[in-house]
Amino acid sequence: MAAVLKPAVAQRPADASGRLRGFASTAREIDDSDLHVEGRLPDWLRGRLLLNGPALWSLPQGGYEHWFDGLAMFHRIEIGPGRVRYRSRFARSEDYTRSMAAGRPAFGAFDTRNPMGFFRRMLHLKNPPITDNPAVVMSHIGDRWVANTETPHLTSFDPDTLATMGRLRFDDGVQMQLMSAHGRTDERGDYWNVGIHLGPKCTYKLIRMRAGTRRREVIGSLEVRRAGYTHAFAMTPSHAVIWETALRAMPLSFLFTGRAYIRNFRWEPASGSRLHAISLDDGSVRSWDIAPMLGFHAIQAWNDGQDIVLEMPVFDDARVLEDLRLDALRQGQGPCVPRLLRYRMKPGRQTAEAEVFGSALELPQVHPQRDGRARASVTWGAGTDATRPALFDRTVRLDLESGEWREWCRGDAVQLEPLFVPRPGGTAEDDGVLLVPTLADGDTATQLGVIDARSMQCLALLQAPQVVPFGFHAAWAA
Ligand SMILES: [Fe+2]
Repeated sequence: MAAVLKPAVAQRPADASGRLRGFASTAREIDDSDLHVEGRLPDWLRGRLLLNGPALWSLPQGGYEHWFDGLAMFHRIEIGPGRVRYRSRFARSEDYTRSMAAGRPAFGAFDTRNPMGFFRRMLHLKNPPITDNPAVVMSHIGDRWVANTETPHLTSFDPDTLATMGRLRFDDGVQMQLMSAHGRTDERGDYWNVGIHLGPKCTYKLIRMRAGTRRREVIGSLEVRRAGYTHAFAMTPSHAVIWETALRAMPLSFLFTGRAYIRNFRWEPASGSRLHAISLDDGSVRSWDIAPMLGFHAIQAWNDGQDIVLEMPVFDDARVLEDLRLDALRQGQGPCVPRLLRYRMKPGRQTAEAEVFGSALELPQVHPQRDGRARASVTWGAGTDATRPALFDRTVRLDLESGEWREWCRGDAVQLEPLFVPRPGGTAEDDGVLLVPTLADGDTATQLGVIDARSMQCLALLQAPQVVPFGFHAAWAA
């Protein structure tokens, strides 16, 4: 029998309606509630879907105004034999604890100003307090699960109970103020990520933390005048690939003003963008010029002979970050639409070749056994109408070789990142299902679509016991 815990905060009226209730601060902590299953789940599908994301934007004395900024909640949908259960817990980060006690944001966030006064900030200049709100990505380091945002803090959590286990204390002296949200775990369980140290020049640092350790080794680094906004990076078997966006960090602003995180970057198209490939063998770096761009996620990168190829959704300016503010989203306005670009980095060339091969797909992913290891021929993502700004309203399978585009569309629904779960023992790249959180205008709660990843037919819909606030990324714990 489902046991519903008291909400961590008083429940507030929804500040959005219909499918846009995913932007409301109404989610509660729920303890193992059964999901209603409509349709038929594959017999082999057993495991835990983990979701994290912003869930609480409104606090009694203030709040957050950007989608990315809400205080994080973990969700677990456990698919077992004959039973599917849901559980949710707020992440007890330092930010959550202090913000809940204060009744207003206690830390600066993506588009939330740092509430600390000037003199307190100067006191902490060498080691400034920055948010640890783990609302964006979940990863594992060996068997330890962590979650994080775009800062270097990694928050450990239990994938069963969703209890927060505290922040990882690193056993090293590596200096960085920013870190890509998307750490990557290799086949050995080692964790890789890219951090940025701000100074008179900015330094990108490719770090690896071996499973079972808390020591970040710097595998390679490069100095640039001003680093670009960095949400993720890509890997091939031989290189890490960083895209230096034209949304460039202003280090003095980061260090000396209380501006919101993203207000410390400036769109500088005149200085273009660059791609950097760091060798995993010796840390050496090669770079290529590209047109000014902003991008969050790679679809994939791979080695094609001596060339390195990177495929990703790309925005031509930084408007998308304004588009993702809550006032616009709650009115039903959608973000601008990315184009899909394929960059080819050739040895000895100064400029990478760029080819447009599609549009209107974000939150992409490929088969986990291909990602960073071998070229994938299929990607899945959250899609929109390519002709107008819109929030994700379809789930897409895109054949990267033929360009064939298949969709699953519920109608009148927001459809978030599709997580691909491969069928155990399957050999085909698309042998598996997609797990897709959706919310339609007429739904009473979130519906998780279970979609055949090849045919894009819906196999089952699982109804959660509440509206799961819209987040970004998911993970699968078998
Ligand atoms: Fe992301």
